[in-house]
Amino acid sequence: MAVREIVKNVFSVGSIDWDRRLFDELIPLPDGTTYNSYLIKGSSKIALIDSVDPTKQKELIENLKRAKVDRIDYIVQHHGEQDHSGAIPRLLEKYPMAKVVCNKKCKEFLMELLLIPQDKFIEVGENEEISLGGKTLRFIFTPWVHWPETFVTFLKEDGILFTCDFFGSHYSTSDMYAKEEKVYTAAKRYYAEIMMPFRKTIQANIEKVEKLNAKMIAPSHGPIHGNPKFIIDAYKDWASDIPKDEVIVAFVSMHGSIEKCARYLADRLVEKGVNVKLYNLTRTDIGELAMDLVDACTLVLLTPTVLAGAHPSAIYSATLVSALRPKLKYAALVVSYLWGGKAPDQIKGILSSLPIELIDGIMVRGHPKEGDYRALDELADKIILKHKELFNK
Ligand code: FEO
Repeated sequence: MAVREIVKNVFSVGSIDWDRRLFDELIPLPDGTTYNSYLIKGSSKIALIDSVDPTKQKELIENLKRAKVDRIDYIVQHHGEQDHSGAIPRLLEKYPMAKVVCNKKCKEFLMELLLIPQDKFIEVGENEEISLGGKTLRFIFTPWVHWPETFVTFLKEDGILFTCDFFGSHYSTSDMYAKEEKVYTAAKRYYAEIMMPFRKTIQANIEKVEKLNAKMIAPSHGPIHGNPKFIIDAYKDWASDIPKDEVIVAFVSMHGSIEKCARYLADRLVEKGVNVKLYNLTRTDIGELAMDLVDACTLVLLTPTVLAGAHPSAIYSATLVSALRPKLKYAALVVSYLWGGKAPDQIKGILSSLPIELIDGIMVRGHPKEGDYRALDELADKIILKHKELFNK
């Protein structure tokens, strides 16, 4: 990424990863990502805010050269995960006088993950400040966005809030500032995949950072938010406890029985005015499913029986739902079988940690028959009734 000045003596010096397509060997990245690093030059000290993924450390060092940096005093590291911290060992070789500034928990993680010696750290507390000379950094702890050590830094004089993963997006773009209609989907996907399990702590952390009245929010993935209200309001909506009038119908089908049930159920719901998202789980991008889980009120999971239990794709999806902890209110299961009927208990067990009401499910023996279609009609009616009660329709 080119070196660019954001405001006087504050520079963007990170890297764009246009080609990356998978994160944590798990999360699809259809739009690549960026690892943003910010350089702040005070009259007496120089600070770097977050480093970059180790694959891009050479580019960061080049950028620092281009920004005419001959020393770094502080590397403020908001988060231990290596896509931001991984270049620190190389930075410490290049700038041996630099100290890593972070909280106690982050220091512990960085020592474990990157083997950084203890004497390389300056440990800071909540609301503590460091002056760079005309540029003051204030540290605000925002735990669990999305690891326990995460914190943010407010550059008081310029009103810039550096938030690392919080408010970020996996979105490779040369736009320095977010074009809102473009970044909304990427930021929602990011929230869905990374932040959603921590919805409650995120609600508290939004309140905390909103009070700062930042002029801009500079995350360490994706473009800078020149209009903080846009992303703060989006986060408030996504993290709220109130779902939307939407049903996810997610199925896996080996020989077509379950697909017929899924499509039939989806059509009945749509006919009655419910917004439905239909997912074939063996073909879907899990990020798309995660994004719909941000808002959905009800999930219907449909699976055939494999070796007496649920299909592995259905088990994977149920595990994903359980891990992401969305604001779902209701779930229902539709299972096809010929013999062996452990699938419902298996899926219910996976979803049992979620505060959701399970609506009576359906067992379909072989190809769906007239009785099964009537049972699907009844399931659609039950879902619609639940939604009517919840949304006062
Ligand atoms: Fe972008 Fe949690 O690292």
